[in-house]
Amino acid sequence: MIQKILNKKILRREEIITLLQAEDKNDIHAIFQKADEIRKKYFGDEVHLRGIIEFSNNCEQNCLYCGLRKFNRALSRYRMNETEILQTAKKICDTGIKTIVLQSGEDFNFSGEDIYRIIKSIKSEFDAAITLSLGERDFEDYKIWKEAGADRYLLKHETANAKLYETYHFGQKLYDRVGHLNYLKSLGYQIGSGNLIGLPHQTIEDIADDIILCRDLDVDMASFSPFIPSPNTPYKKQKPADVNSVLKVMAVARIVLKNVHIPVTTALATIDLNGREKGLAAGANVIMPNFTPAFYSDKYSIYPNKKSDVDPMPALRSILLAAGRNMAEGQGHSLKII
Ligand code: 5AD
Ligand code: SF4
Repeated sequence: MIQKILNKKILRREEIITLLQAEDKNDIHAIFQKADEIRKKYFGDEVHLRGIIEFSNNCEQNCLYCGLRKFNRALSRYRMNETEILQTAKKICDTGIKTIVLQSGEDFNFSGEDIYRIIKSIKSEFDAAITLSLGERDFEDYKIWKEAGADRYLLKHETANAKLYETYHFGQKLYDRVGHLNYLKSLGYQIGSGNLIGLPHQTIEDIADDIILCRDLDVDMASFSPFIPSPNTPYKKQKPADVNSVLKVMAVARIVLKNVHIPVTTALATIDLNGREKGLAAGANVIMPNFTPAFYSDKYSIYPNKKSDVDPMPALRSILLAAGRNMAEGQGHSLKII
């Protein structure tokens, strides 16, 4: 049954659900093997690294699961200035990494023009692709940032279940989120989306729909991340996601989405000491090390004990070596645009 599904080119919803429900050891082994095969077919043994700069932990939103939510008054907030951001970008580029991810909460204190200037400066000084991960912003802003040279936009849909979406994000609609992603794509951004796994009330069917939404959106990157309960949030007492379930979702996503970039998320590396190794073996081809100065990164506490290293490179090099994988040399653009 599982083998028959794995041999198909395009999977239907029920088939995706069947894979996600697999419990038998041999079935699970076959799913991971297939995911690894597909990863290797499209990406070989290259792993793309993306260096993250978390430049502001201020956020206008109140997502029930997130430690950066506006109503978390216990969190001390920061904004990096332009000089600090550029210095961090230099640190990333000095390691040979060729993608810079500018990440923040939804912080309108950084105006569209502020971000425009930062993109321009990075692009003029460094040979690097830029991924923006700034939440939902004005459509005009997306436009000028693209003109400034931004390459990609990461905006997770979090859950493809419209009802749950409204539960987790009071006053927000999945429909709008999808509208932003489609608009970003129409502007020529490579887009990234994805979900959180293990949120309250979520079912296997919802997770299948998350993978299907990524397929329908024709995303260039898709991230499947464990939920980790965060103090000072309404979900602080919930259970964290189970690592093996997350790995299974990543593998099934690789089988369904084929040539899409799939990262090992920081959250996976946080809940499992060997999360990166396991993720790379479950279909992932991207790692996103964090370069935010520790003083700030400690305050970017979406969830507790977030994995971050003063210098992430030595550990990464040894993980890649042990996994028989190598650091990709280019900017690692989407396979869909080449
Ligand atoms: N556990 C794991 N990931 C989380 N995020 C927010 N809160 C949590 C949590 N408690 C993720 C969301 C969002 C990104 C900023 O962090 O998926 O896209
Ligand atoms: Fe803000 Fe993103 Fe956290 Fe939601 S998940 S509160 S938008 S940082």
